[in-house]
Amino acid sequence: MIKPHGADELKPLFVYDTEKHHALNKEAESLPSIVVNSAAAANAVMMGAGYFTPLTGYMNLADSLSVAENLQTTGGLFWPVPIVNIVDSIDGIEGAGRIALRDPNVEGNPVLAIMDVEAIEPVSAEQLSSMAEQIFGTTDAAHPGVSTFTSLGKYMLSGPIEVLNFSYFQADFPDTFRTAVEIRNEIAERGWEKVVAFQTRNPMHRAHEELCRMAMEDLGTDGILIHMLLGKLKPGDIPAEVRDASIRKMVEVYFPPNTVMVTGYGFDMLYAGPREAVLHALFRQNSGCSHLIVGRDHAGVGDYYGPFDAQTIFDERVPDGAMEIEIYNADHTAYSKKLDKVVMMKDAPDHSKDDFVLLSGTKVREMLGKGIAPPPEFSRPEVAKILMDYYQILDS
Ligand code: ADX
Repeated sequence: MIKPHGADELKPLFVYDTEKHHALNKEAESLPSIVVNSAAAANAVMMGAGYFTPLTGYMNLADSLSVAENLQTTGGLFWPVPIVNIVDSIDGIEGAGRIALRDPNVEGNPVLAIMDVEAIEPVSAEQLSSMAEQIFGTTDAAHPGVSTFTSLGKYMLSGPIEVLNFSYFQADFPDTFRTAVEIRNEIAERGWEKVVAFQTRNPMHRAHEELCRMAMEDLGTDGILIHMLLGKLKPGDIPAEVRDASIRKMVEVYFPPNTVMVTGYGFDMLYAGPREAVLHALFRQNSGCSHLIVGRDHAGVGDYYGPFDAQTIFDERVPDGAMEIEIYNADHTAYSKKLDKVVMMKDAPDHSKDDFVLLSGTKVREMLGKGIAPPPEFSRPEVAKILMDYYQILDS
């Protein structure tokens, strides 16, 4: 199986040893503690699950600035997005060597991780804004990733962590949330070697489904990992449980058995387009996948990125040998009325726009809300039904 990023073995920061886990939970009761923000909590979950191997904790300011600018830490590790814990106030933790990080997303703010504080550094609004520009390609506060990143706080806490749980993800998505450790194990158990990952934060319509099929056929894979984001999204995006149900239905009805793993990971959406695509590739390598599908406007939002910027970044900013996983680049994919099947537009050069079934997200949303199923060329009826039920409850 493909090696993890920058390491021979996966390095999950979750404490698997039961006795040690118990002792740390006990210790946490008497440590100074702080409720972190959702982004920092999601970073802890990803590090706990092994997805962010080989990181051992939150980055310091020098590493964060270096990663934002050059996609590598000061020590030379290739990494596309700063993995930070930025807080508003350090009241109660100043001077402490070891602190407990509390979960903002679970009632009662239980301890999520214990951190050895190596540094507490002030981070200025200018530094946050310049990092945001490098990561997101804009400083526009209307960009959901930029507004989150630039309002994280004033102090950067860095140092190694030990993770004690997986926040709300395990309880809320017991069948879907998986760690990188679990995914690697399952891939090994299934005897798969070549595995393509499909990143998603949306329900899967026909274009997505066929894209997965095309990638599997073109690459000759043993299987596909559908790996959905389970964390926070911008308002209006479809909640994970609805997506999960619709994806599972689609897989059950339309894919041969034992070719698909439907799983999810606990991370908040960054909407960082190209940079996020590189992060996506890196943590799918850590999950044991040989390939990642990157299609049109991957991890994008609004029109901040060109439709294929998330593909070109791999040529422009990822040095040879920096990662082992390979990218399956997909062109805009849609149903062709002429050919009666879903195709990539590059493979249908004689087509005009009208030869494809194209519906905007807004249009689809409107139809589903009114209980009108999109045409079967666009959406499988079983998927449309689940989405219509959701929107009709939402709109009533
Ligand atoms: S993402 O934010 O997780 O990337 P989404 O779930 O919509 O959003 O997309 C999942 C993957 O499918 C991404 O790689 C995206 O580029 C690709 N994709 C979505 N729709 C299309 C399409 N019509 N044509 C080609 N690729 C697409």
